[in-house]
Amino acid sequence: MKKYFASLALIVMGFTACSEKPVRAVPDEFRAGQKVFNSVCGTCHGIDLMGNHSASSLIEENYTEESFSNEQIRNVVINGSQSRVMRSQRGRVSDSEIEEIVKFIRYSQKNKILTENLN
Ligand code: HEC
Repeated sequence: MKKYFASLALIVMGFTACSEKPVRAVPDEFRAGQKVFNSVCGTCHGIDLMGNHSASSLIEENYTEESFSNEQIRNVVINGSQSRVMRSQRGRVSDSEIEEIVKFIRYSQKNKILTENLN
């Protein structure tokens, strides 16, 4: 099954290789979250949660549902991180967008293998 998804994604990536901002192919229901994540969180956490130099990738184990609940994610987005290194993003995302972001983060964590294959 994973192999199937990986090759499907590769095919889709191939088709979209010329688009302006290549992102990996995710099922329709997670696209809204992907879009908001990439524009609001992506600058620091990396496009599609890949992480970058300023903030960690949220794909890591510390942030899976067992370690970091949906409520905790919501709380960080609304109030900023405890250390205040990440500031509140309240003005940048609506409640429903936060829900979409959470769904996208969970999807991406479960499909980590896909990300690794493509990068
Ligand atoms: C301006 C850069 C920036 C933006 C934009 C940003 N973050 Fe962060 N985020 C950080 C940094 C830096 C940390 C590490 C903060 C710390 O260690 O206290 C962090 C930490 C986190 C954490 C983990 C907090 C913890 O307690 O471990 C979560 C979850 C998170 N961000 C989610 C998001 C989401 C979702 C968005 C988009 C709505 C977002 N961030 C936007 C920089 C950013």
